Amino acid sequence: SRSASSFPHPCVDTARSNEENADINWDDLGFGLVPTDYMYVMRCSRDDNFSSGVLTRYGNIELSPSAGVLNYGQGLFEGLKAYRKQDGGGFLLFRPEENARRMQMGAERMCMPSLSVEQFIHAVKETVLANKRWVPPQGKGSLYIRPLLIGIGPVLGLAPAPDYMFLIYAAPVGTYFKEGLAPINLVIDDKIPRATPGGTGDVKTITNYAPVLKAQTQAKAKGFTDVIYVDSINKKYLEEASSCNLFIVKGDVISTPATTKGTILHGVTRKSIIEIAIDCGYRVEERLVSLVDLLDADEVFCTGTAVVVAPVDSITYQDQRYKYKTGTETVTQKLYNILTAIQMGLVEDRKNWTVEI
Ligand code: COI
Repeated sequence: SRSASSFPHPCVDTARSNEENADINWDDLGFGLVPTDYMYVMRCSRDDNFSSGVLTRYGNIELSPSAGVLNYGQGLFEGLKAYRKQDGGGFLLFRPEENARRMQMGAERMCMPSLSVEQFIHAVKETVLANKRWVPPQGKGSLYIRPLLIGIGPVLGLAPAPDYMFLIYAAPVGTYFKEGLAPINLVIDDKIPRATPGGTGDVKTITNYAPVLKAQTQAKAKGFTDVIYVDSINKKYLEEASSCNLFIVKGDVISTPATTKGTILHGVTRKSIIEIAIDCGYRVEERLVSLVDLLDADEVFCTGTAVVVAPVDSITYQDQRYKYKTGTETVTQKLYNILTAIQMGLVEDRKNWTVEI
């Protein structure tokens, strides 16, 4: 049975299911939660480092009401994907060491202990293997892996929690937006900022996400796919969308907001697309991107682990709708094709980005 068990419930020896594929409709995957069999849990107390982790049945965890994460938001999350290779050839992770390092950077900012890169990657591999029947067949999606690092020890006054938990769960996913692979429609919200200079916008802390739900909910109610945020001071420079980074294309130049002010998330897909674009001969600029540049672009696209590379059809700003080039002949499509071919193991991985399991 896959029902939630009490926690903790180690079950290492039964963790490797032999069943080839889970019995679900693989054509129906979106980005909703499809619970899988196992999660990976590792604990760390005040005077201890993270040492050994266990696979346990996927299920609820018990927390003190005064856990640091519940009261003061001391928590980070990550996101990465595993793809099934063709012909039963195993699984591919995409740049997991980047997620490991980003979590270390975030842990430092949020006063939490962190794992080594090796521990992180080992835990990710264990989670994928334990849930391998949930990795979609090639072409149908991927297994989305969600690591969490949270303060679980009790606090009342504001202080770092005494104990921490690192946890990974996973779920099979298809496309992130309801549009599937079709171009999306964004709206600029210049009233609710996502991040401020010197804040935590560049850290994958859980506290960056709930504050944008209001802007996102308002935008969805008006039929938009997602929100574009602008800088909190001048309200005229592009930042990112609720769940992804943004790029613009004008001629042969591709631009994306620079991460220098600490307001832009260091996206693994963002970084990879910059490299791929440079390899393809485009000029890539990481800079301040004004709203004028954005609205005047030929193409706009979003990047993220969940989102991959999503083409933008339109952007609405102050009730005016601006349209962009989309389709098979675009720079966006070319970059999407190259990235996903590497991620799925369809082309030689000259950059050594993928990790085989
Ligand atoms: C990801 O792209 O992996 C993220 O963490 C974004 C999240 C809002 C789904």
